[in-house]
Amino acid sequence: MQSKVTRSTLMKMKQEGKKITALTAYDFPFAGILDKAGIEIVLVGDSLGMVVQGNENTLSVTMDESIYHTRLVSRACNHSMVIADMPFMSYHGSVDQAVANAGRFLKEAGAAAVKLEGGADVCPIITAFVKAGIPVMAHVGLLGQSVHQMGGFKVQRDEERLLKDAEEVEKAGAFCVVLEGMPSFIATRITQELNIPTIGIGAGPDCDGQILVLHDMLGINDGFCPKFVKKYANIAQIADQGVASYIKEVKEGTFPSDEYEYK
Ligand code: KIV
Repeated sequence: MQSKVTRSTLMKMKQEGKKITALTAYDFPFAGILDKAGIEIVLVGDSLGMVVQGNENTLSVTMDESIYHTRLVSRACNHSMVIADMPFMSYHGSVDQAVANAGRFLKEAGAAAVKLEGGADVCPIITAFVKAGIPVMAHVGLLGQSVHQMGGFKVQRDEERLLKDAEEVEKAGAFCVVLEGMPSFIATRITQELNIPTIGIGAGPDCDGQILVLHDMLGINDGFCPKFVKKYANIAQIADQGVASYIKEVKEGTFPSDEYEYK
């Protein structure tokens, strides 16, 4: 079996120019598939709120829901590093409360690190987490939790602000950073300037790694898919066909046939 991925593994991969792979997962069976395939990072994203819970955005996801899903994912991961996304408003009150919330993911759910959204504004929180022994993946660019403040899910184009945010989160102690929804040339520049690995989503090919939401890239859910998502499978279509065949066979009395009966 491959050894467990740690922050040092990821740092070494950046230094050696090896690409880092990351996907989201929210449950035991899919996390197991990713772990066996050799994915380096499994993120229990707050995209949970959209792709699993069916909400319009990620804002309603709670600490308890995230803890529950992180526990399911951790149980399946022997190789991949499990990172839990801090839900909206779980790190915006007092620093003590934020540290207590982050600590729950390591203590109760088996995560190895947490992710939080924001740049220079969240640096005091990143520093407090690191001081408490909680590794942090930062996230700058398009921030789902700020959807109302940003006026929608919009590509971010302020090059100097994005670079400054990325530099600040590195200085504050983050061990890697997600770059979301920005022109490729900005992500390329950030990736060159930072020592920590960058993990891109809608940020072009030059990041140190890539992440996608599992339900988007496997076509588990029908419906809107952002431009940066490549569909590697169409699971919704396969599931539709399976369920339709089951309904047909039950209605016409051909299921269960002999081989599925106890005699
Ligand atoms: O919640 C999530 O899935 C994420 C990824 C888009 C990086 O934050």
